[in-house]
Amino acid sequence: MNDTSTLPIGVFDSGLGGLTVLKALRERFTHEHFIYLGDTARIPYGSKSPRTIQRYLEQNIKFLESCGVKAVVIACNSASTQAAQVLAAANAAGTKIVPLYNVISPSARRASEITKNGLVGVIATRATVQSRAYVSEVEKLNPKLKVYQQACPLLVPLVEEGWDEDPITNLIVYRYLTPLVAANVDTLILGCTHFPILRNAIARVTGPHVELVESSISIADQIQSDFESAKLAPNHSGLSSELRVYTTDVSDNFQALAQRIMGTQALKQLELADI
Ligand code: DGL
Repeated sequence: MNDTSTLPIGVFDSGLGGLTVLKALRERFTHEHFIYLGDTARIPYGSKSPRTIQRYLEQNIKFLESCGVKAVVIACNSASTQAAQVLAAANAAGTKIVPLYNVISPSARRASEITKNGLVGVIATRATVQSRAYVSEVEKLNPKLKVYQQACPLLVPLVEEGWDEDPITNLIVYRYLTPLVAANVDTLILGCTHFPILRNAIARVTGPHVELVESSISIADQIQSDFESAKLAPNHSGLSSELRVYTTDVSDNFQALAQRIMGTQALKQLELADI
């Protein structure tokens, strides 16, 4: 078998929100190289049909494969709902595909492990809510658990506008979360790449007794466990981590938003991906 250990890990999102996942992966796996692809020309995915999301996902995986990645992390929840279909289509066509990581399964597992009262909430885009992917994953793990979903489509543009600490955002978060708080969920899955940026606003509404589950942490746990079991080859080369960030559209706004999400992790100029 070829040694893939020194190859980069591909991380894909519909836009820049997935940098929350990339940031967590880089903090955890300091020797790994990463290639990030944000499909900024076609965002949002959360309002698109499953068929369209599948097509975009296939194209984005192909792009990352052409960059020579050893695995693709689908940081986008809306796209993760279509990962199984994309894999099935590749298998049916006899096409070999790199290992795919979706963010739904690890967060569903984490939520099912930590809930004490069996009531789990999910906030996500419309596409993710309509797919019921979190509901079926959680119920598969434990049919006794009850999952309450809430689509929060307005939160993505608020984050992109940089309004994460704005009173308007607090009000909208309150409006979206009230039914879940009333349902008494004790665990809330942040089922969208952008929502960790609203963690404070969300926690102010849910209060300290509701555990927030973030995809970035759950997927990092999953990859760590796959490194430990040698399902995925870790990079032991000792060279410092390299990062390339591609987007399908480039603007000054994106560069500023990307740097804001990455915080202290310095970002080079975004590169244009021709997909
Ligand atoms: N990245 C998407 C997700 O996690 C949110 C943005 C979009 O709608 O494309 O579902």
